[in-house]
Amino acid sequence: MKSYYIYTYGCQMNIADSERLAHQLESVGYAPTEDVNSADLILLNTCAVRELAETKVYSRIGELKHLKAKNKNLIIGITGCMAQKNQAEMFKKAPHIDIVLGTHNIQHINEMIVEVQRTHKHQINVDMDNTVLQELVAKPNGTFFASVPIMNGCNKFCTYCIVPHVRGREISRPVEAIVKEVTELGAKGFKEITLLGQNVNSYGLDFKDGTDFGTLITTLDGIPGIERVRYMTSHPQDMTKSMIDALGASSNVVTQLHLPIQSGSNDILKKMNRHYTVEHYKELLEYCRKTIKDIVVTTDIIVGFPGESDDDFEQTLQLLKDVRFDMAYTFSYSKRSGTPAATMDAQVDEEVKRVRLQQLMDIQNEISLEINKTMEGKTYDIIVEGPSSKDENMWFGRTSGSKMVLFPKDESLKIGDTVIAYIDKAQTWVCYGTIVK
Ligand code: SAH
Ligand code: SF4
Ligand code: F3S
Repeated sequence: MKSYYIYTYGCQMNIADSERLAHQLESVGYAPTEDVNSADLILLNTCAVRELAETKVYSRIGELKHLKAKNKNLIIGITGCMAQKNQAEMFKKAPHIDIVLGTHNIQHINEMIVEVQRTHKHQINVDMDNTVLQELVAKPNGTFFASVPIMNGCNKFCTYCIVPHVRGREISRPVEAIVKEVTELGAKGFKEITLLGQNVNSYGLDFKDGTDFGTLITTLDGIPGIERVRYMTSHPQDMTKSMIDALGASSNVVTQLHLPIQSGSNDILKKMNRHYTVEHYKELLEYCRKTIKDIVVTTDIIVGFPGESDDDFEQTLQLLKDVRFDMAYTFSYSKRSGTPAATMDAQVDEEVKRVRLQQLMDIQNEISLEINKTMEGKTYDIIVEGPSSKDENMWFGRTSGSKMVLFPKDESLKIGDTVIAYIDKAQTWVCYGTIVK
């Protein structure tokens, strides 16, 4: 039997795609292996969102070269956003790879493998002309938590971002297909699903029949077995009050919202082609906090976007203090060729970016800790996810708001159990608790 190994980089969308690649490979007889050195097929499902993401992949591809020397029949394939972005260039940089497969073509992986075996030549498919999303079966990584893509692509074209260029235009999956998948997951014992899209708030708009994210959320309420519905990512321009009402009214949607703001300066937001203001963002958030009790809010912020002045940056710091996010994912602006920001004037010095990023993280960490401290002495429902990666004697689960709670391993608990945790001690990133029921 032939074996495969998949490296997955980037966002949850790629994790979901890897699950779909895995299913296809297994349907023609490949079996997964934990040992990349013995694999007959290695896929790197890649990300191109920042330069560092690409650097990591190229260095991994380099490391795999010696395996190819050992095993002439080894097939190495590059899939995902970097494959889509760099296309045949990938073969020039690394002639020992066999397959370059773009984001719209993962349904063709098995044909590509057969072609490599037949011709011993490079195979590439980076067409982007799909107008409907292929319904592909996934091989979920676990048995309780599953991600469910509801759309692919992005129409926003933020000026720094490569995603619309490598994922194409927004295409939504029909409501019925999503309901069918979620219903099957619930029947198999899955408890928590995450609906995925680059901008879930524009879900369904391409159908032009009145379907939107709010109607999807309402339809997914009450599917047997599904205790929690997560969703990401939300966009401040497209998230409407009626969607927030639907989220608040649902019995299984979680109390978590990831709402990237990117900058606290309206001037920078404009240059980023993010069509909202800080004032609009704050108003939206206020409505969310009013409608969804105890909602945990996280965000993304980029520092050092071209033209970001000290004053612009100060406004971002002030925003953190005003809004008080539970957590912020902070990034240093990374030039992506082909995007408008890459050629904008006033690129910010790397050292300035580094200092700003540190300042931002210091302030946010303090806020995260203060917020988490308010959880001490309270109880939360968590679903047990298993051993922590750092210490196998400590297990963890997440609250509805997605806060990680660590607790001593307890033989009576199984992965997937929903239990009540009492929070003994909170830290910046995690809480420590005791299972009370
Ligand atoms: N669709 C989501 C997230 C896309 S990528 C959204 O609109 O929010 C995830 C995050 O990466 C973005 O929110 C942004 O903060 C960051 N990002 C994207 N392109 C970047 C770049 N060129 N440099 C630095 N950070 C970037
Ligand atoms: Fe990128 Fe903007 Fe689309 Fe998000 S909304 S994927 S940041 S272009
Ligand atoms: Fe990266 Fe593609 Fe996701 S660029 S962040 S893997 S959509």
